[in-house]
Amino acid sequence: MRIRLPLMVCGIAMVLMSAMFGRSQQAEKPGSQMEVQKRDMQKKLDYSKNILDGLVTEDFDKILGNAKSLNTLAKHKWMQNDSIAYRTQNQVFWFTTGTLMTAAEQKNLDGAMLSYTQMMHTCVNCHQLIRRQ
Ligand code: HEC
Repeated sequence: MRIRLPLMVCGIAMVLMSAMFGRSQQAEKPGSQMEVQKRDMQKKLDYSKNILDGLVTEDFDKILGNAKSLNTLAKHKWMQNDSIAYRTQNQVFWFTTGTLMTAAEQKNLDGAMLSYTQMMHTCVNCHQLIRRQ
């Protein structure tokens, strides 16, 4: 079980990451505001990768620190989008970064993995809905 769990996380994350990398090659928008936004977006990806790292090595401090950073980023307004669908994804994103922090504080690996996968769903769902709107 100790071996299978990290492998499963790796598998899920690789699928999600490859979906997001594809996306990151598409949007190239000029302007300093966009530059700042892009840098923040890259941070989101970095923090989530670090959390995966923390999960597979059972490094709860790493999970907690990066979940906190994502939690702060989740409060930023990325774009002017007041649709219920977008706000819902943002809310769930923010909420799951919180449950991830709690699980990391309690050194609960299963709970952290569950919150991580729930959070990663919102990454993909939110990007998908932006593309479809
Ligand atoms: C509530 C909505 C929402 C959630 C949740 C969300 N993002 Fe984003 N993301 C955005 C928006 C908006 C953009 C900017 C899209 C654009 O400029 O076309 C973006 C862009 C990005 C980009 C840059 C893509 C590009 O086109 O350059 C990356 C990387 C990224 N997000 C990663 C993540 C990761 C990783 C997560 C989850 C940990 C996540 N995002 C969760 C809304 C979201």
